[in-house]
Amino acid sequence: LKEEALTKVAQAEDLKALEAVRVGYLGKKGPMTEVLRGMGKLSPEERPVVGELANKVREAITTALEEKKQRFEADVLNTQLKTETIDVTLPGRPVNLGGPHLLTSIVTEIEDLFIGMGFDIKEGPEVETDYYNFEALNLPKDHPARDMQDSFYITEELLLRTHTSPVQARTMGEYRGNKPVKMICPGKVYRRDTDDATHSHQFTQVEGLYVDKNVRMSDLKGVLNQFAKQFFGEEREIRLRPSFFPFTEPSVEMDISCKVCHGKGCSVCKQTGWIEILGGGMVHPDVLKMAGYDPEIYSGFAFGMGPERIAMLKYGVDDIRHFYTNDQRFLTQYHKA
Ligand code: PHE
Repeated sequence: LKEEALTKVAQAEDLKALEAVRVGYLGKKGPMTEVLRGMGKLSPEERPVVGELANKVREAITTALEEKKQRFEADVLNTQLKTETIDVTLPGRPVNLGGPHLLTSIVTEIEDLFIGMGFDIKEGPEVETDYYNFEALNLPKDHPARDMQDSFYITEELLLRTHTSPVQARTMGEYRGNKPVKMICPGKVYRRDTDDATHSHQFTQVEGLYVDKNVRMSDLKGVLNQFAKQFFGEEREIRLRPSFFPFTEPSVEMDISCKVCHGKGCSVCKQTGWIEILGGGMVHPDVLKMAGYDPEIYSGFAFGMGPERIAMLKYGVDDIRHFYTNDQRFLTQYHKA
């Protein structure tokens, strides 16, 4: 019986066959169990002899089975190790990294620059009240300049803000007229415009406001000059032209020189050599008064610029719609390596 079983173990070709041999010889219905069960019928002298023999046979078979089983398992593991090896010398697959949107980068750059000059960053709601968007900025209900900024009204009193200037009034109001204000506010604004290469019904602005004792026009010019040079290059110059906004007096528009020099010489981007980049001025006394500041004590300057326009000038983007259509071929050009 023992020899027969051991031969079968030797012949078994896989784990399944091996298990069949085990069940066949050592299982409940196998011959070994039968022998052990029959022990009761033996005489007391025969019992230990047969018992010892039976145990030895069982042990021998069990050991043989175990050894063979371990060999099979090792084989399985080895083939697995061989077939599943990873070739660590293969070149990796490139991973496409995302990056900030050009507008986000520009706004961050503008923020960093003004933080460097001591400005705080403020925010305001995109759904604004008629009061903050217009009234508090010296644009009463019948003011013709309201037409300049054709608005998206939600109700009679609520609209999508047409500029970030309401954040001027909100911030001054928050400080209750007894504290200097030095902030910039980036954000989205909305106007009823037909979209084309230079117009968008939604775009971005960065507002600036500095209110303190003795703030003068020359402070505005100094800050904007610093901004222009840091942002566009040391060789750039600015000029202020008189303009009109109901919430600033006097009001200005700022141009930046746009002579672009390269290896072969210089070219002028517009016939005049200047291009307009923002509006600003000295905060109107009425605007200060409405926000709780005494114009006899406090004065201030404000400005507003459009990051899209600034990005278009800096990088030669020819259509404002590129900023909003999410074409990867456009966007990835501005991702830093
Ligand atoms: N809010 C003005 C605009 O949208 C810009 C501006 C801001 C002008 C602050 C003066 C002062 O055109």
